[in-house]
Amino acid sequence: MKTETVVLNEQNIDTEVIERAGRILKDGGLVAFPTETVYGLGGDALNPASSERIYSAKGRPSDNPLIVHIYRIEDLETIAADIPEGAYKLAETYWPGPLTMIFHKKPIVPLETTGGLETVAVRMPSNRIAAALIKAEGGFIAAPSANLSGKPSPTSARYVIEDMDGRIDMIIDGGDSEVGLESTIVDFTGENPLILRPGYITAEMLGSVLGIAVGTDRAIISADSGLKPKAPGMKYRHYAPKGELTIVTGDPDAVRAKINELAAGDRSKGFSVGVIATKETAAGYKCDNLKIVGSKGKGEETAHSLFRVLREFDDDNTEKIYSEAFDETGVGAAIMNRLLKAAGHHIISV
Ligand code: TXA
Ligand code: MG
Repeated sequence: MKTETVVLNEQNIDTEVIERAGRILKDGGLVAFPTETVYGLGGDALNPASSERIYSAKGRPSDNPLIVHIYRIEDLETIAADIPEGAYKLAETYWPGPLTMIFHKKPIVPLETTGGLETVAVRMPSNRIAAALIKAEGGFIAAPSANLSGKPSPTSARYVIEDMDGRIDMIIDGGDSEVGLESTIVDFTGENPLILRPGYITAEMLGSVLGIAVGTDRAIISADSGLKPKAPGMKYRHYAPKGELTIVTGDPDAVRAKINELAAGDRSKGFSVGVIATKETAAGYKCDNLKIVGSKGKGEETAHSLFRVLREFDDDNTEKIYSEAFDETGVGAAIMNRLLKAAGHHIISV
């Protein structure tokens, strides 16, 4: 299949291109597009054949449900049932934006889209290219992150092209993703709302709107592999760079000393070594491949660059990668969740 790549400017969207992309989706084709979190791989959410195509383009197991993207709140009730008051409050506050909510599904949503589940995940993205595309498509786009299964989610079109060229109809290049981590997922089908995947919208931000403390699925915060995550996708090895990633946590001086010691050992064995650090700590590393993910304590900056950096290590064929652990407050919970998955939970405490 020949994949067409088009560049769009979010501030000045070429409507002719959006109309054409919308038609491709209506006809059952696949279009990758930018969102504020990461790039999505879109298909018609109400067409079972489109969802099957998404799974095969990604090489993803078909029991892993897709998120349905809408462009206006009115459309939520077309696909979701039993929507509690709290969900409307969150929608009013954080939509459009990096928040996904799970509800019981209406029959119009095919089981192919929900990975066989009777529930549906819904998100309303704020990226204007995404919103225009969903509208042009007719309102409901199923979209997982636009990476091959297991790879870090793409935060620029370059990595979508790397993974999806020849597999889908069109790629819309809308520049770098603003947030850089996938949306926060909140499940509204249980007794209390529950975070199934942490993201930019934190537990505190959800709690302040709902007026109750919002918990996180225990299976994803513990390294205990015996617990089954409620979001099927969270059980897969994910975000993994090709090199072996190790996280080091503890007192900053001890972390620096440990990473330098491990890196020197690897280098003496002939491995290429990379380090993930912050602007403040970078100078302390003796390393040929040092990647800086923003300033210490600025979670937004780390979130924005983490997936790009993991991809760059692949480009550089880095074999051993060490990362400082990040503060888990605010968006830090999501950063450490992704980093731990990328490291296969390999973390050293010093
Ligand atoms: O920011 C995002 O959410 C991006 C952009 C493209 O919108 N999308 C994204 O999709 O990250 P994906 O497919 O890579 O991750 C969706 C996650 C998976 O872990 C999946 O198992 C979970 O959401 N999920 C989807 N529907 C679900 C459902 N009905 N019940 C439980 N988990 C669900
Ligand atoms: Mg994904």
